[in-house]
Amino acid sequence: MVIRWGICSAGKISHDFTVALKSLPPEHHQVVAVAARDRKRAQDFAQKHSIPRVHGSYEDLAKDPEIDVVYVGSIHPHHLPLGILFMNAKKNILCEKPLAMNLKEVQELIGTAKKNDVFLMEAVWTRFFPVSMEISRLLSQNEVGELKMVRAEFGVPIMHVMRSSQKELGGGALLDIGIYCLQFVLMVYNGEKPECVQATGVCLDTGSELITLQNQRVDEGMIITLKFSGHRMAVCTCTIAAELPNEAIIVGSKGTIKIPAHMWCPTSLIVNGVETQYPVPEPYLPLNFINSTGMRYEAEEVRQCLLKGLKESSRMSHADSALLAEIMDECRRQVGVVYSQDSH
Ligand SMILES: NC(=O)c1ccc[n+]([C@@H]2O[C@H](COP(=O)([O-])OP(=O)(O)OC[C@H]3O[C@@H](n4cnc5c(N)ncnc54)[C@H](OP(=O)(O)O)[C@@H]3O)[C@@H](O)[C@H]2O)c1
Repeated sequence: MVIRWGICSAGKISHDFTVALKSLPPEHHQVVAVAARDRKRAQDFAQKHSIPRVHGSYEDLAKDPEIDVVYVGSIHPHHLPLGILFMNAKKNILCEKPLAMNLKEVQELIGTAKKNDVFLMEAVWTRFFPVSMEISRLLSQNEVGELKMVRAEFGVPIMHVMRSSQKELGGGALLDIGIYCLQFVLMVYNGEKPECVQATGVCLDTGSELITLQNQRVDEGMIITLKFSGHRMAVCTCTIAAELPNEAIIVGSKGTIKIPAHMWCPTSLIVNGVETQYPVPEPYLPLNFINSTGMRYEAEEVRQCLLKGLKESSRMSHADSALLAEIMDECRRQVGVVYSQDSH
């Protein structure tokens, strides 16, 4: 059965996601409409990707009856209002990460999905890569023995990117990229809530002069330590100020599993010293971000869920999104990063 996608916003990730969708069989996935705040941007996007219908507003996309699922590729602060708009119009949603700015907003989205009986998933694409599926298989078969330690890091120099550093656009390292490290740890520890979370970080001062100094801070980088039951631990490191090796490693009593690079979109896995490659398909247009055709795996997960009539994915469930948001709220509280959405 074919799934008809509507694309919400014509920015960088929407471009890459559309390219990824077109790497899948057209009898399974079709991009039928795109919307942007500005009709001309939507038209240019549609022309580039041969998309039949163009909407000059998100509201018109919500009213389009011939769409099965909307991909929300706008900036983080818009995920909540857009999610509500589309789900109240009975549209299923795949929403970019972070699902929303904080736990309260995430819960509102989950509540809206349930109220409207529609599918909702946070686009944590990493979880659906063949490398991640293989890691889950290895862990379920106890291949590295008892888990002891997980380490994940994501650092890229993107402070010049407005949406990554400007507070009103949802800037900050944790919500933008640290989320990938945390989701990796939670995937390995099977969605278990940590007993203890400790975060330290360095902050940038951005935003309007009219706001108090404390309120202008967004995190440039954080180091987060997590303690889980049974003497198991994890460390996450993220920064938007420097390039890190971007590895992830799982250490057990009998061996190690390592992602040697690009831990958020992995194409290589080293298990007890033996490396295997899992390449993603070549794109038909240049991409904005590395390995973006790997978003095809999350798109296919959405299709499989819709075919089964599911309202959430068991591999990136509503509870997974809520736990991620809860931990990120706690890290921000400890480091002193407060968004306007936190006080609404
Ligand atoms: N999965 C991944 O690997 C990945 C990678 C990058 C980003 N992301 C996520 O995707 C989302 C978008 O990131 P991006 O890099 O694609 O961002 P972007 O290109 O800067 O912006 C995406 C869209 O957001 C809207 N927008 C941008 N700036 C705005 C502003 N100042 N006011 C109102 N609307 C604005 C625009 O929508 P219109 O086109 O309608 O004008 C724009 O096209 C973020 O939540 C991010 O976390 C995920």
